[in-house]
Amino acid sequence: MDRTVRTVDDVMRLLDGLFASGADRWTREGATWWDEFYADRSRPVPFFAAKPDENLVGLVERGGLGGGRALDLGCGPGRNALYLAGRGFEVDAVDLSPAALTWAGERARAAGVRVGFHQGDAFALAGEEFAGPYDLVYDSGCFHHLPPHRRVGYLDLLDRHLAPGGHFALTCFAAGAMGSELSDADLYRERRLHGGLAYTPASLRHVFAGLTEIELRRMREEPPESPYFGEAFLWAGLFRRAQPARDSGDPEVSGAEEVVSPAGSVVGGRGAGRVEALDGSGTGP
Ligand SMILES: C[S@@+](CC[C@H](N)C(=O)[O-])C[C@H]1O[C@@H](n2cnc3c(N)ncnc32)[C@H](O)[C@@H]1O
Repeated sequence: MDRTVRTVDDVMRLLDGLFASGADRWTREGATWWDEFYADRSRPVPFFAAKPDENLVGLVERGGLGGGRALDLGCGPGRNALYLAGRGFEVDAVDLSPAALTWAGERARAAGVRVGFHQGDAFALAGEEFAGPYDLVYDSGCFHHLPPHRRVGYLDLLDRHLAPGGHFALTCFAAGAMGSELSDADLYRERRLHGGLAYTPASLRHVFAGLTEIELRRMREEPPESPYFGEAFLWAGLFRRAQPARDSGDPEVSGAEEVVSPAGSVVGGRGAGRVEALDGSGTGP
């Protein structure tokens, strides 16, 4: 008989272990699978091309971000991290796969840009090897490879490391176009993620309810000759974390914005205390 669960990490590991052996592409054990995926750089995988996402370029070119510090989650061979560094951001980029990071490092040297690359599980390394506050957390295609229970750590990373007023942007599989549409519970029953999870707009809004949605649209399909990456089977989402309340001394009359943690709890401003954190603690980052 085993009674191993004592902490949230124990629960996470227990749920990871419900998946079939070899299904893991999201913890340190999943790195080998990704290394093999990246081993042959000549494969015609669309995101192997060193092109930044069209939505990211649009956001930066519109001046919607204003620079600062950026974190690229699951950066792969680094195409978006390199773009951000080339546009003046101070960039940290993290990925499970040593092979992907070797490739990304070569690209960074060739492009003459500096990126702080980190190898390992982003959610385990956050706060240890890299830390916010980040003005931008960007994720192109990592989130949809996480099993449902790992969303908790994802939101915790945003909670701790996305700056107040900072932006979070992601691309992920769009339901009806790409990815598994099994319910969260059925993914555990089937013991695999079937190549990644599909999301609907409602499911993304539910997961990221603690952030303000700025834009949620399908990625624009980019032709092969385009300098940008774009696939219409992906959502391109842009969210923003609320600004801190102005320190008027009286939150009832300050008119300040609510400060909401990405997990959905109101931690400051007029609405402080009205919404419980998902873990019931009512505490913020
Ligand atoms: C579909 S690839 C996208 C790569 C890159 N963002 C791009 O678009 O070119 C997903 C990446 O997420 C990484 N990944 C998955 N789970 C991760 C985790 N827990 N921590 C860090 N990286 C992770 C994988 O190693 C893989 O390189």
